[in-house]
Amino acid sequence: MTDSRPPAPMRNEFPLLARNPGLIYLDNAATTQKPACVLDAEREFYETANANVHRASHRLAVAATGAFESARATVAHFLNATTPNEVVFTRGTTEAINLVARSWGQASLRPGDEIVLTELEHHANIVPWQFVAQATCATIRAARIARDGTLDMEHFHSLLSPRTRLVGCTLASNAIGTMPPIAEIVAAAHAHGARVLVDAAQAVAHQPVDVQALGADFCVFSGHKVYGPTGIGALWAREDILQAMPPWQGGGEMIDRVSFAGSTFAPAPARFEAGTPPIAQAVGLAAALEWLIQQDRAALLAHENALRIRLENGLKHMPGVQIVGPNTDKAPLTALRFAHAHPFDVAQFLDNHDIAVRVGQHCAQPLLQALGESSLLRVSFAAYNTEDEIDRFLAALEETLELLA
Ligand SMILES: Cc1ncc(COP(=O)(O)O)c(C=O)c1O
Repeated sequence: MTDSRPPAPMRNEFPLLARNPGLIYLDNAATTQKPACVLDAEREFYETANANVHRASHRLAVAATGAFESARATVAHFLNATTPNEVVFTRGTTEAINLVARSWGQASLRPGDEIVLTELEHHANIVPWQFVAQATCATIRAARIARDGTLDMEHFHSLLSPRTRLVGCTLASNAIGTMPPIAEIVAAAHAHGARVLVDAAQAVAHQPVDVQALGADFCVFSGHKVYGPTGIGALWAREDILQAMPPWQGGGEMIDRVSFAGSTFAPAPARFEAGTPPIAQAVGLAAALEWLIQQDRAALLAHENALRIRLENGLKHMPGVQIVGPNTDKAPLTALRFAHAHPFDVAQFLDNHDIAVRVGQHCAQPLLQALGESSLLRVSFAAYNTEDEIDRFLAALEETLELLA
């Protein structure tokens, strides 16, 4: 049996949870709560080292630049990148994918080229590719899901051809939790000469993401889903690919020389970080990643999975509730449909019990269409959730469904 109790004081490390002792926060796939060390790191930065980076030579500017670049090194270490030069700070996953689509995509795609995505993708890994496909006359193809919400690998393989230039795939579906067989996907894409972008937004908080072991070409994530601040995330790209990519946004800090006749650009990653970056947020992100690195990550994942299984076992006895998506190889989240109640009504009643869950299409409309669903209720777990919260959730759900029947 797995011990699914988190280290006892963990909830107290999160000021918002400590201030709201009755709150059951189960919307972690949308964004996680932040430990005090992350809030402290941002405050400490503003109180001791606030200045702009890579510009002035005064003492504070040197301290700020040092903190910012050390945050980049922490992200590189967290992802097992070979060098911090492979890490570009962005506003998050969405901006990172837009960067790759606009820079690499626009420079590399030609009419008739194909971009292979999957029906599991978040809109952030669909819409930027639609923009670039439109601009370059490339085509998007989507690998189907099977009825159980797993990726139809036969269909995926059938889409690959010499025309495939990019495969974009999530490590875990934010809507139903499916974790596609990423090693097989990366190997097959590379065998066809395609680049691979891995969306790690849902995975980073739960499993170590090792970019060298993944073997992909691009990997993206958001700080706020991994106990860090909003407004910061990262693109990792293999150094040779990144150095060959053209800039996508122009401005200060990304240049080498500027004249009215034309400009030349800084090497990566600076070439992709035009303007003042999110400096304090990068410092906060580094604190979050250091916090996570210090945890026993295997134990945390076992704890989160045990909570999911406790929930799913409890739901088995509840009439009119169906779990949507696979029951193995999934991220610690559970998606639900109700036979006799609308998920929005259920979520509203749960909110009256101070239980926060997400309801709707989860920025994954193609996935919900493929599943034949118009909206799902999602319960998603983090390190600080407890067995007691799951039991209270189950009791509140039972009461809600009786009321709504
Ligand atoms: C799998 C996945 N990809 C991309 C995103 C977009 O992340 P962000 O809104 O932080 O840019 C999300 C957010 O929910 C996600 O779950």
